[in-house]
Amino acid sequence: MAFNHFNRKQRLLLSSYAILFFFLIIICHFRSARDPGSFFFQPTEGYRPGYSLQRIHESLEWLSVFNRSDNVPPRPVSHVSPPREKTACVGIVTVKRPLQQDLDTTVASILDTLSPEQRAALTVQVLFALSKPSDHPDYNQTWLSNVVDHVLTYDDVDAPGYIIMNLEKKNNIKKKSLIDYRLGLQACYDMTDAPWIIMLEDDVVAQRNWYEHTMRSVQQVEDWRRHDTIKDWLYLRLFYTEKFLGWNSENWPIYLSWSVLLVSLCASAGMYTRRKIRATQGILTNSFLLVVCFFCVPLLITLFFLAGRVTWYPMQDGVHVMNAHGCCSQALLFNRENVPALLEYFEHMEDVIPTKAVDSVIEMQAGRAELDRLAISPSQMQHVGAVSYKEKKKSWKWEGPYRVKGAHGVWSMGFEQAYEMDMDRLFQMDGSA
Ligand SMILES: *[C@@H]1O[C@H](CO)[C@@H](O)[C@H](O)[C@H]1NC(C)=O
Ligand SMILES: *[C@@H]1O[C@H](CO)[C@@H](O)[C@H](O)[C@H]1NC(C)=O
Repeated sequence: MAFNHFNRKQRLLLSSYAILFFFLIIICHFRSARDPGSFFFQPTEGYRPGYSLQRIHESLEWLSVFNRSDNVPPRPVSHVSPPREKTACVGIVTVKRPLQQDLDTTVASILDTLSPEQRAALTVQVLFALSKPSDHPDYNQTWLSNVVDHVLTYDDVDAPGYIIMNLEKKNNIKKKSLIDYRLGLQACYDMTDAPWIIMLEDDVVAQRNWYEHTMRSVQQVEDWRRHDTIKDWLYLRLFYTEKFLGWNSENWPIYLSWSVLLVSLCASAGMYTRRKIRATQGILTNSFLLVVCFFCVPLLITLFFLAGRVTWYPMQDGVHVMNAHGCCSQALLFNRENVPALLEYFEHMEDVIPTKAVDSVIEMQAGRAELDRLAISPSQMQHVGAVSYKEKKKSWKWEGPYRVKGAHGVWSMGFEQAYEMDMDRLFQMDGSA
């Protein structure tokens, strides 16, 4: 069907459509640059660290004060309240990583903004998951014992030493991760009676108000639970990546039905208008409608999908049920009540072959026990570990434009965007003061 098959008005309309479409593409190019599920995603834009750089910088500055053995400021922490009155236990399992350790950032960024009361409500324990803990570059750092409540090694927890040594020798990181995660979780469960257990990997950074936000969110979750809005729950996610929140292939029937509906609506509207309004008869000819319904509209639908789901439906701020597609175990707050069953399941899964990843085991337990999983949006934590030994590589070197990044693209775009405004406000306050 040649373009000059159409009359002047029709050609005008089709040309306008082409121009409009072109502009829509340009808009998508900018609007979807940070949506990892979009065709228009640009890694240099999406993975650009902003707020997390600021947090790393300021929290390490805070920590450096505790890094001198001579002049340690009195710690406004611990022993203010007895250990059995803790609100949350923060358990961090740390291993040796290639290139760089981020344990200092993790510990510093969860502590640097806390008031003395908030700090006293937390127990922070770090498990050095190495048979020889002194191999870990941070093990004998001065700041460690100055800010952390419990520095743990395999000797302090009930670790299967022989098995672990074997796994280290065989470099079986997957199975060792399962054991380490269980030991870290168990240690928090045993050593405190905190109702919330926050398990962090050793390469995350927290936003400034993570504690208030998280505690408010968990109260909300408990309210929902009391009113039966949700089922019993296993964890509240403090970190998620948008990467897996795109269009889901299992929803294709829904997407297809909507598309067919839209095309049919368009065709019906065209034919109806043609019948009712005489003046349109010369424009809405059969061939013209054919082009509109089977070419122009499908192209728009395609563009809609290419732009990405998160672009169209960004997650609202607040707490959400996220029983599917929530990725990664970087930062999870567990409900103490459901931890024993999870620990048991971990122990069982350690011997199952093929070995599952930590987050898969947690998801499977939630599925078995029919527990809800929730997430706070935007993420309270960012994953800043650039590399890990989980990647099977011969050698490690810095790659890409940024030093601060999430390995495998495990990164929260929302984290970088959400708190930037706080940052601007703070700078303005600094400026005016
Ligand atoms: C603490 O001091 C050690 C040794 O001087 C140094 O390597 C490390 O980077 C310091 N850490 C922080 C957080 O200041
Ligand atoms: C940590 O231990 C190593 C090896 O024993 C030593 O060289 C280093 O000075 C120690 N660092 C600190 C901060 O104590």
